[in-house]
Amino acid sequence: MATMEQEVHAMNKTTQPTLASIFEEMEKFGHEQVIFNYDKATGLKSIIAIHDTTLGPALGGCRMWKYSSEQDAIADALRLSRGMTYKCAVSGETYGGGKAVIWADPHQDKSDELFEAFGTFVETLKGRFYTGTDVGTVGMDFVSAHKQTEYLVGLPEEYGGSGNSAIITAYGVMRGMKATTKEAFGDESLADKTVAVQGLGKVGKLLVQYLLEEGARVIATDIYQDNMDTVKAQFPAVEMVTPEEIYGVPCDIFSPNALGAGLNDTTIPQLQCRAICGAANNVLADKRHGKMLYDRNILYAPDYVANGGGLIEVADELHGFNKDRAFKKADQIYDILLQIFQISKTEKIPTSDAADRLVERKLETIQRIQSKYIGKKR
Ligand code: NAI
Repeated sequence: MATMEQEVHAMNKTTQPTLASIFEEMEKFGHEQVIFNYDKATGLKSIIAIHDTTLGPALGGCRMWKYSSEQDAIADALRLSRGMTYKCAVSGETYGGGKAVIWADPHQDKSDELFEAFGTFVETLKGRFYTGTDVGTVGMDFVSAHKQTEYLVGLPEEYGGSGNSAIITAYGVMRGMKATTKEAFGDESLADKTVAVQGLGKVGKLLVQYLLEEGARVIATDIYQDNMDTVKAQFPAVEMVTPEEIYGVPCDIFSPNALGAGLNDTTIPQLQCRAICGAANNVLADKRHGKMLYDRNILYAPDYVANGGGLIEVADELHGFNKDRAFKKADQIYDILLQIFQISKTEKIPTSDAADRLVERKLETIQRIQSKYIGKKR
């Protein structure tokens, strides 16, 4: 799908480190383990990166992508697995960070056998790593992997999975937006707020519905006219602008729900909003863009906090999926963001750094708790 290709391309261009040495990277970012899996019969080439299992077994999707080099595939696995540690920790889940990549073309190279072979490698980790869908993979791919391993999440509903994660993701973004509004404007009501929504895909269009129900004025865009027409037909009150115009639209809240790296040197100066809250992963092109927003007094709800709903859902699956419980957990995105905003104010740091600090402190605390002697281990 073109959008995902653009997303990965954008991420590779802007955030992918040049990989000097795998051990150097692991040392720099604290990864525990990197596993290379090759299956001669199917040609499977896959890398599983486990970043940090302080909180529990590693959890993270399996991306299938035609990387331009082995180095890019490794770098992506390392970067994505680290992101999962932060996302799991901040969402209060007892899972660590991991990610798998399959180095192949998702449009051409998929077969039941390839995913079955992948499943055998996941099985060898005996529950140290759970995986499921990501860019380039869909729930049905893992039905084949399921023949070889139980350590999967995000299977289709008819196979016992939790179904479309965009619903809970949009709900979590809406809760996050209320917290952001409270912090930026003094009360959480969205009733008199103008929200600029970028991207009307799976998450964006559900978010539009939530926002209209809350009484917000919505201005929106998508690069596909069809997506705009569908939303306009369903919700005539939504005002449409072009993808180029959305950054400069005067609004209270800008909500990025499209691709990664959307907030960068070119777009941040155009913003005419007081706050940002959306689902787009890796929306800051670089860490320093968090500081740029802070300096412009634009309150940024960190992406991996605001978009945690999908992760919360698949993590819940591992306890026997309960939809009410998952949505109650997603509600907490509100309180977590308020906590992050408080750290940002107290320590005078950008909210993106405050979120990282919250996670790092949490991991240190758990490490201290786990260091107690609790009897002789076998
Ligand atoms: P999607 O692919 O269904 O929707 C993305 C939409 O953005 C598409 O309609 C696309 O046409 C549009 N778009 C792309 N570039 C654009 C641009 N420059 N201007 C305006 N619109 C543009 O993806 P989905 O599932 O809605 O996800 C949206 C974002 O949220 C992605 O970054 C994804 O990684 C992230 N996310 C999604 C989760 C989920 O459960 N679906 C969970 C957590 C994060």
